[in-house]
This record gives sequence, structure tokens and C-alpha cells, in this order.
Amino acid sequence: MQDLIKDLDILSEEKKQENCEVFKTSPEQNTGKQRKLYVESYGCQMNFSDSEIVTSIMQKEGFDTTSDYESADVILLNTCSIRDKAEQTVRKRLSQFNQIKKTKPEVTVGVLGCMAERLKSKLLEEEKIVDLVAGPDAYRDLPNLVKQVDEGQRSVNTFLSREETYADISPVRLNSNGVTAFISIMRGCDNMCSFCVVPFTRGRERSRDPYSIVDEARHLFEQGYREVTLLGQNVDSYKWSPEVNNKARLERTTVSEVINFAKLLEMVALVSPDLRVRFSTSHPKDITDEVLHTMKKYENICKYIHLPAQSGNTRVLELMNRTYSREWYINRVDAIRTILGEDCGISSDMIAGFCTETEEEHTETLTLMDYVKYDFSYMFYYSERPGTLAAKKYEDDIPLDIKKRRLKEIIEKQQQISLERNQRDIGKVFKVLVEGTSRKSEDDLQGRNSANKVIVFPKQNFKKGEYVHVLVKDCTAATLIGEAV
Ligand code: SAH
Ligand code: SF4
Ligand code: F3S
Repeated sequence: MQDLIKDLDILSEEKKQENCEVFKTSPEQNTGKQRKLYVESYGCQMNFSDSEIVTSIMQKEGFDTTSDYESADVILLNTCSIRDKAEQTVRKRLSQFNQIKKTKPEVTVGVLGCMAERLKSKLLEEEKIVDLVAGPDAYRDLPNLVKQVDEGQRSVNTFLSREETYADISPVRLNSNGVTAFISIMRGCDNMCSFCVVPFTRGRERSRDPYSIVDEARHLFEQGYREVTLLGQNVDSYKWSPEVNNKARLERTTVSEVINFAKLLEMVALVSPDLRVRFSTSHPKDITDEVLHTMKKYENICKYIHLPAQSGNTRVLELMNRTYSREWYINRVDAIRTILGEDCGISSDMIAGFCTETEEEHTETLTLMDYVKYDFSYMFYYSERPGTLAAKKYEDDIPLDIKKRRLKEIIEKQQQISLERNQRDIGKVFKVLVEGTSRKSEDDLQGRNSANKVIVFPKQNFKKGEYVHVLVKDCTAATLIGEAV
């Protein structure tokens, strides 16, 4: 879900902890509209995707986007609460915007996303410059909230919905390479991992109408996009049926169908064999063999699974309320390897130093990594979040220096495994979807193979959006280096 930082070189420990610093801003847009909107987004892909919905809503209200916040009439910060650092970053940013307010008091500053939902109207008291607070399910109300601010009030809407999926809103693609795009297929989360704020900030899990998802994928394909990533906190629990989700559609269909994630994947894969399909995030407790078999059946469903383990120790997993054991997790990995083979990419999220974690239990995270051989991981040390089950039930008792040392060991382990996994690709030929020019050299192109590995190769006459077969000749821990064949 944090693909954005994925293809930067493997991040150092400090950088990694700072990954909430990574943000995206709205691009410059000039369609002659009256007012300018600046959107800055933090956190996961879900948030970046939401900012595209927000932009769509605001465009209809007469706003063009700008990449320069100093020239904006409305500044919106789409925020993340996942770790304390993420919130601190936003607060720092707000104090920078304070300077603008001094010279331009008429500018509206709004906070959206998870931090808005977590703190609600408290944000108005804590951050004096904030005029508007809107939670993740309140974006349709933004025009109205902005109007209230125009009329001199401060406005808040943090109502969480059981139905909202923004299914009918066409996102305005921001920072797009024109080749790859994200499609939200569900919102919220019904799991209650004890460390996690997401169920509180995003509300109940709900699945989006599959036909609107397929339409969006088809539309993207027609516009030249060649890859879509289906997004949800737990895509494997995607479930939609006309009875439950859409009475109106039920009247038009004769068969009562229940569409699960495997079926949805198939529907999107059938849009075109030239449209790659990815998805994130898979929950180890829910990923089924049916999904794995569907992945195998369609060449265009990418052979890559983000399967966050969080810890390699069963007792810690229990405290985390992940509802699977080490053995269960290993069984799922074995199923992936059996059905999809050794080349299928697998990545993880890991948390170091969760409450009461012992040295031996930490070591089990390292041995799980050795067993699975992850291609990549997002690695964090535990950050207690107010209101979560862990904050209520357990003491955050691992000292920071120990958390950091354990995290460092996890990162070093991952770096070594990433390098090994990349080295075994030397000599192989992969079908690569070209996403653009390489970050490091104008003469090279960059794309990814099915397993989600970044491959760089000499440009020749190839173009963005094309599929190219590339022979891998060299690698680093983060990138494969090759030549077209
Ligand atoms: N739905 C996804 C995760 C979304 S949050 C899943 O279940 O895997 C992304 C990652 O942030 C999590 O996987 C976890 O590794 C990390 N994370 C969440 N809460 C955290 C906390 N309190 N401290 C440290 N890392 C946390
Ligand atoms: Fe958070 Fe767990 Fe839901 Fe992921 S599955 S968003 S970690 S509660
Ligand atoms: Fe995403 Fe951060 Fe919210 S990771 S769901 S933006 S808390």
C-alpha cells in the first residue's frame, strides 16, 4: 500500500522511520476555474487515492489544483495517524502554513483523512489555523464545509458511514504516470489488530460495487493505462451481493450472485489481457487458495502478494490480535509457493518491539523472514496509538533503544534477503511494463515485472506503457538491471 516509497533505494533505518515524511502534492492544473486548491497527502495509498476523489469533488465546485500552496485559496492536508511520527509531521506542516495565514488570512486550511477523524473538532482547538476538518467518509460534504468557512464559521464533519464507497465519483488522477493507477475496492476495516488506529479512523469495512470497479478499470485501459492496483485494508474479505449492497441492482439481475475477491479479480482481469492487475493488502487469515488459483489462471494478474506478518511469534501475534499463528502464516506462504511458484513476489510489514516482546520472540521474526524470503518489507518499531486495544490493555514496555536495535536487525536481515532474491533473477528474462524514465538516468527506462520488482534498462526506442522483455544482467538489493531482448 505504500508503493510510493517502494522503488526508492532500500531505506536506511532513520529514513524508514521517517517514511511518513513522504507525501504527494497536487499538480498544476489550468482549466480557467475561479479558485485554486492545493492538496497534500500523507500516509498510505488509500489516502492518495482519496485525494483524487476529493479533487474530483472540488473541481465540480469550481477549483483548479495548484502545486504551489502559496497561491492556493484552499489548502487541504490529507493526513495519516498510523504512527506518532506521522501526526507530528502534519503538525509541523500546519505550523508552516501558519505563515501564509498571516499574510493571507482569507486562505482556508483544512485537515482531511485519518488524523481529522481521530481528533475531530479537537483539531480546531489544538491547531488554531485549521478552519475545516473532514473525515474519510465526509468528502461529499466538502463544498458545503468550504462554504461555511467562506461565511466565517469553522466547519467539521467526521461522520463515519457504513455505506459510503464513492463508487460513482471518477477520481481525478494526480501525479499520474499515465500507465499505472489505483482503484479503491473497499473502505474501512473490521479487524481489530490491537496496535492499529485504522478501524477507528476509517470505520466499518464495506465493499464497493464490483461493476463500478470494472467500469473504472475499463475506462483507465481505454485512456492508455496498463496496470491497476485494487486497494483495500484487507482485500481478501471483499464481498458484495446485490441483496446486501444494492437493492436497485437486484431488481435488474435475475441470479443472486455473491462476488468475493477471487471473482472480482477475475472480472477485472477480463477487462483486457494487456491490463495488469495488482492488489493490496492481503490479510494472512483471509487469503484463500481460490484467490491463488485465480492468480495462476490469468497471466495478467501479477504474481506478487503483500502479506504483512507483523511478527514471527505466535504469542506476540495473539497479543496483536492478528488471529493467526506463525504456523498458519507459514502454511499460507507454502500455499503461495506451491500454487504460484518460487518466483512469486512476497512482501511484508513488520513491527519491532511490540508490548512485552522478548528477545527470543524477536528472533522468531528474523527466522520467519529467513523462511519466507521476502522480496521487500516495510519495517517499523511499535508506536503506541491512543484509543487502540493495545494502548488500553498493554504497557508499551520495550525501551526505545531496544525497539530501534531490533528494527535495525530486521532491516539488515531484509536487505540481505532482498539482495539474494534479486541475485537469483540474474540471467532470467521478465516481461516488464515500462512506467517511465529511470530516476537515475535519462538514457534508461524503468518498469516492473509481474513480481513487482523494479527493473532498469537502456531506453532504445521503447516507450512508456509498452511491455518489453528484459534480460536481467545485474542487481542491487532494490533494483534489477537489464537489457531488452
Ligand atoms: N491493513 C494492512 C495494514 C495497514 S497499516 C494490514 O493489515 O496489513 C500499515 C502498516 O503499518 C501495518 O501493517 C503495520 O505494520 C504498521 N503499523 C500499524 N500500526 C502501527 C503502530 N501502532 N506502530 C507501528 N507500526 C504500525
Ligand atoms: Fe489495521 Fe489490522 Fe485493519 Fe490492517 S487489518 S488496517 S493492521 S486493523
Ligand atoms: Fe492510511 Fe495512515 Fe489512515 S496508513 S488508513 S492514512 S492512518
